[in-house]
Amino acid sequence: MSNKPLRVAVTGAAGQIGYSLLPRIAAGEMFGADQPVILQLLEIPVEGPQKAMKGVAMELDDCAFPLLDSMSLHDDPNAAFGDADWCLLVGSKPRGPGMERADLLKDNGAIFVGQGKAIDENAADGCRTAVVGNPCNTNVMIAANQAKRLPAENFTAMTRLDQNRAATQLAQKAGVQVTEIGNLVIFGNHSPTMYADFQNATIGGKPVTDVITDEAWLKEQFLPSVGKRGAAIIEARGLSSAASAANALIDHVRDLTTPSDKVHSIAIHSDGSYGFAEGVWASMPVKTTAPGTYEVVHSGFDQNDFGQEKIGLTNDELVSERETVSDMLS
Ligand code: NAD
Ligand code: LMR
Repeated sequence: MSNKPLRVAVTGAAGQIGYSLLPRIAAGEMFGADQPVILQLLEIPVEGPQKAMKGVAMELDDCAFPLLDSMSLHDDPNAAFGDADWCLLVGSKPRGPGMERADLLKDNGAIFVGQGKAIDENAADGCRTAVVGNPCNTNVMIAANQAKRLPAENFTAMTRLDQNRAATQLAQKAGVQVTEIGNLVIFGNHSPTMYADFQNATIGGKPVTDVITDEAWLKEQFLPSVGKRGAAIIEARGLSSAASAANALIDHVRDLTTPSDKVHSIAIHSDGSYGFAEGVWASMPVKTTAPGTYEVVHSGFDQNDFGQEKIGLTNDELVSERETVSDMLS
């Protein structure tokens, strides 16, 4: 094990997602089986969460993970992000029943102003940041805006959970294994307006629409069901998704650090591709070209009128969220 340890800062370390996520990072599932990690954990400076974070760290110690080089526990983002190679921004308020993720904008947005500045001032050159805390597309924009030292491309937000949800729902409808689903990506916002592009996706190499011929199901049941799956989990569990969110973040970062031709969904800084407004963070198809570096995939995702209309709607929402937080953008 000769690799230099990676410094990975994780916020919200005592939260639900943190509890599912941290052991998997320490076990090597995110950065690989030969990559040691130093975990730099952040919680709010309040006794309860600080104590709970200590408990999580005790459990990580008790796992005796060979790849866990060391851990540090923090209540100050400046220290937590010190020399970090990766900042995983999970810590923020989840929504409760009856709320939309955008209802969290003002409260959670403020967190990302401070954390964006702290990343700018303390993280390693070349640091990558992935945002999970909702509404994640707009929170990542706020953080990136505060971190002028680092390129906007180094900041991403997670829509992989939506891609995974969509894949399972198509597989279950077609009665096949999820591994049969290909070329499936999410466009736009991590919100009910997201567009799970079934029209370009495949099942067993055939277009989805050849295998699932019930167009009404695809448009009127599948799309809303993927878009509102987060609310359905909150309704069922009384708490927002955690194990599946942690799993999606493992997928997000692992695929973003593993160069390949595999296409995956990430919310990235828009350069206008697919008609998204420049400067919003929109989910779209990318492939990883070098560890932590991606390019937008254009081929294989042509949009007909239906797809363009859906992308237009989710883009409008992203633009309107940007207007709502304009005072948080420097
Ligand atoms: P949680 O309430 O269980 O845990 C959040 C933790 O973050 C808490 O321990 C809290 O003390 C901490 N925290 C709050 N503000 C912080 C700050 N400024 N710095 C550091 N820590 C802070 O919530 P959870 O279920 O773990 O969810 C966390 C976030 O992830 C929520 O915003 C939720 O909506 C979001 N989420 C996003 C996705 C996605 O697909 N993008 C999926 C699931 C959840
Ligand atoms: C999810 O999609 O499960 C999360 O974003 C949590 C939520 O509020 O829906």
